[in-house]
Amino acid sequence: MTVVLKIKNTAIEQEKIAQAAAVIKRGGLVAFPTETVYGLGADAFNPAAVKRIYSVKGRPGDNPLIVHIADFATLDSLARLVPPEARILCKRFWPGPLTLVLQRMRQLPPEVSAGLPTVAIRMPANPIALGLIRAAGTPLVAPSANLSSRPSPTRASHVLEDLRGLIDLIIDGGKTTIGMESTVVDFTAGSPRILRPGAVTPADIEAAIGLLASGGKLKGEERPKSPGMKYRHYAPRTRLILTEGENFQENVRQLIAQAGKEKKVAVIAFHKDSRYDDCLLIHAGSSSRTVARRLFDIFRDLDKRGVDLIIAEPYPATDGLDLMIWDRLKKAAGSGN
Ligand code: TXA
Ligand code: MG
Repeated sequence: MTVVLKIKNTAIEQEKIAQAAAVIKRGGLVAFPTETVYGLGADAFNPAAVKRIYSVKGRPGDNPLIVHIADFATLDSLARLVPPEARILCKRFWPGPLTLVLQRMRQLPPEVSAGLPTVAIRMPANPIALGLIRAAGTPLVAPSANLSSRPSPTRASHVLEDLRGLIDLIIDGGKTTIGMESTVVDFTAGSPRILRPGAVTPADIEAAIGLLASGGKLKGEERPKSPGMKYRHYAPRTRLILTEGENFQENVRQLIAQAGKEKKVAVIAFHKDSRYDDCLLIHAGSSSRTVARRLFDIFRDLDKRGVDLIIAEPYPATDGLDLMIWDRLKKAAGSGN
């Protein structure tokens, strides 16, 4: 059975945090909110619990996990080598939506990083997440709390949709604020490189430590180095077609016509003036922040509504939150890396 605990105010609901921490300490799995998406947490030093994370998510065994910490001292107990630039980034952006890939300490169970000599580490900015890590007294591995390939959960109800009965407890801390996963920066292969764009942008990183490898702009044609990136991700069950190019509106209309009247088609629009007939038209929001916060929720909602086809307007971008949104859209449509 999966227990659901609602927490509104961490300052006065410490006993609930303690209850969740007790589940972690005895090797259980607890889903909890972070500022990006909900994570599925387990004690990073309990190999059986870590293995269970892979099995309940249906996660491929070669896709390593992120270790979540609540204080800077723990960083040096998990990473063998923290280059000065990595230290600058964590001082500047932690707690926050930034994950660093570093050389790992041998004490960590190999399952944590799928047998790689490296480890991904992040300090989340959500008080419930930080409280849980502190109360558990151990770093937590925490992938996004969805079934593998599904959109990451931005609400506790999304976690229940995917994992009810498979995990021990969920802390419901409301909607997550960012809505998409952290930026992953690799420090283990020469100059720092962004493996997954997130809310800490290339410009933010370059302002702190100077130029990233290949501009850090994560061009579509670059080979992914993050093992997880080769899998389909963030995807609705319904087929999603991503339109491209300047004439995308014409392209959307053609696709609606091709689908025919008997198919239920949804269009996700990012331009507030876009109008299309014969479809369920969803305007995803007028700012990047809103789009980031809503997109995965929209994907899940369209699946529930029994739509046959989703068509999305393009969202091309080279920096800022838009780069993160464009990356997730491409991956959801199966056209990313
Ligand atoms: O915002 C986030 O990062 C969320 C919340 C819960 O913190 N977590 C998250 O975890 O998105 P997950 O497991 O869904 O994604 C982790 C990503 C994957 O793309 C994985 O391949 C990459 O980080 N990663 C983890 N360890 C790595 C390593 N040692 N080397 C390269 N990439 C790594
Ligand atoms: Mg994930």
